[in-house]
Parts: sequence; structure tokens; C-alpha cells
Amino acid sequence: MAEKREAETAVRASSTNGSAPAAPQPSNDKAARRKRFEDVFPVIAKELTDYLKGENMPEEAVEWYERNLNYNTPGGKLNRGLSVVDTVEILKGEFLTDDEYFKAAVLGWGVELLQAYFLVADDMMDASVTRRGQPCWYRVPAVGNIAINDAFMLEAAIYHLLKKHFRSEPYYVDLLELFLETTFQTEMGQLIDLLTAPEDHVDLSKFSLQKHHLIVVYKTAFYSFYLPVALAMRMRGVTDENAYKLALSILLPLGEYFQVQDDYLDCYGLPEHIGKIGTDILDNKCSWNINTALKHATPEQRKILDDNYGKKDAEAEARVKEVFSAAPISIPERFEAYEKESYERINALIETVDEANSGMKKEVFRSFLAKVYKRSK
Ligand code: IPE
Ligand code: MN
Ligand code: MN
Repeated sequence: MAEKREAETAVRASSTNGSAPAAPQPSNDKAARRKRFEDVFPVIAKELTDYLKGENMPEEAVEWYERNLNYNTPGGKLNRGLSVVDTVEILKGEFLTDDEYFKAAVLGWGVELLQAYFLVADDMMDASVTRRGQPCWYRVPAVGNIAINDAFMLEAAIYHLLKKHFRSEPYYVDLLELFLETTFQTEMGQLIDLLTAPEDHVDLSKFSLQKHHLIVVYKTAFYSFYLPVALAMRMRGVTDENAYKLALSILLPLGEYFQVQDDYLDCYGLPEHIGKIGTDILDNKCSWNINTALKHATPEQRKILDDNYGKKDAEAEARVKEVFSAAPISIPERFEAYEKESYERINALIETVDEANSGMKKEVFRSFLAKVYKRSK
């Protein structure tokens, strides 16, 4: 498969005439693939702002929406959006036509818009400060609570684009259902994330790794991992429900692993890498770090955690971080072991995929796993 794509790139490159226009070319180069995907966003943003203009919205509103779209949608890692395009291509087994590429990219940007919608709201709920290396949208001067409506308008953009580009496809309703159902699942996840983290009442005995598992599967795995692959499968005309079940059985564990990384990086990632400042300790979050710490804490360490976790206080936060790193809790060492174990476990799951009978390809999952394994951002 990879060889096939490589071969085609070579053929295209050798047949490229020096005076040919700079049309986007299929490529296996990571930066080029990202660039090609990014270049679709301005087209989408224009369709959306043109719609507002057509509704006779004042110039000020059109400009606001444009700023909202551009501030919150591009600028992330784009793993979710790129995975839609990559999966469509892997399932096809050869490069996409320009039209296929554009449609796959619209679905990819749909997932990125969904992500933008969740993040604008999540940052308000979690009282976060920065995101993707810039102030969270609600903290931008003159935005404030307008960010709530801006989040809704990022979500609405998805359905506007789906109608515009997929209305006449036989799988249109399947796309709608995928976005709507994974949105609801994510919102359930966000609800249990918030309910397990009351601001005014810290009770670490209520946390557990089982609760953590439920939270992260719902708040992250469905929309970040299952959704991109399932959208691509719909676009490729996969209708066998068993293929979707198979995808879910690998992508939920992959999503859980990804959110454990997110929890770990909240405490141990460099803000200049992750683009955000961790708030999980201050916010009393039921994260992988605290659950792992609770499992291994000495009575003295447990007391420090009980007294300092979930306090809106930088010194209390620093005391928690110190305990996280100290033996026998040793979060960094335990995370390293978890990461290795997860990688092996998920790869073993991928190996069980029966390509001949399932209509799925191992490369879909391998390519997604490769995007997140040992990430530092
Ligand atoms: C939020 O999880 C998941 C969604 C946005 C649905 P987090 O609260 O851990 O995400 P970050 O760390 O703020 O990015
Ligand atoms: Mn958050
Ligand atoms: Mn987080």
C-alpha cells in the first residue's frame, strides 16, 4: 500500500511538465499532505462567510464569524482531520481524484470544526488560559461570553457544509448520524468529567480508573478516533455494520490511550509543545495521573494529595506535582510503561484484523496509531 502510493508519486513527478500550474499534488510527504489539507480551509471558511453575507448579515457579523473560524479551527495538530483523508485514501488503495480529495477534506474539516466547538466551550468550563499557543478564545478582549454563541456557530458550520457538499449522496444521513451521535457521546463525557470534578468539594475516594475509563472513552475517543475513520468508511461506501464494530473495537482503546497521554502532558508536557497550560490539578479532574497516584501512594503521600488536590492555588498544585513524581508513585516511569504496554496491546489488536473478510485495512489503524505514539504535543 505505502509502496503503491510511493510509486504513483514517482510517476506523477516524472510526468510533471515544467510549465504546469501548481495544482495540489498527491504526496506521501507528511508536510505536503498537511499543507494540502490546510489549503482547503480557506475555501470552506469562504463558503461559510458567503452564507452569512447571503443572509444579509451586517459586515461586522461576517467579520466576527470569519475571525471565530480562523482563530479556533486551524492551528492544531490536525490529526483528526488528516485521518479522514488518510483513511479514505487507504481504503481506496490509491490516490484520490481532486473531487474525492476535496470531499474527504470537507469531512476532515468537519471533525476539526467539531473539535473547535468542543474546545471553545471546554476552555470556558475548565477555566483554561491558553490553547494552541494563544489565549483561549473566551479570554480574547471583547469576546468573553460571546464565545458561547461562537462555539454553537462552529458546530452549525458542520451541518451547513455537509448539506452543501453531500446532500445528494446516498450516505448523507449516515454522515449526519455520525456527527450527531458522536457529539452527544462527547457531551455525555464532558458531563461526567465535570460532575466528577466539583469545584467546591474535593473527595479523592470518588475517583477510580474505571470512572476515568468511562469519562475518556466518551469525552474523547468517539469523536477523536471513531468519527474520522467511520466518516471515511461511509464515504468509501462501506455498509457492513460489522466493519464499524471492528473499527470501534480498536479506535476506542486508541482514544483512551490518547487521552491518557493528554492527562500526562497536562502535568508533564511543555507548554511550548502542548500549546496550553495544564489545569487538571487545580480543576480537581479525575485524570490518569491522580488515579495512578492514588493506587500507589504511601499514607503520607495520600495526605498531601487529599490536602492539596483541586485547590485553586499554585503552591498546592506544586505540592501535588512533587508527590506525583516521587517514588513509589513515580508517574513519569509509570506513564512510560503504560505507553509501551498500550502500543503493544493496540498493535496486537490491529494484527487480529482479517483484511480479506472484514473489508477493513490494518493500515487505517496503524496510520492513526503512528500519529499519536510518543507524542509530546
Ligand atoms: C476535553 O478534554 C475533551 C473535549 C474537548 C471534548 P480536556 O479538558 O482534557 O482537554 P484539554 O486538555 O483542555 O485540551
Ligand atoms: Mn479542558
Ligand atoms: Mn486535558
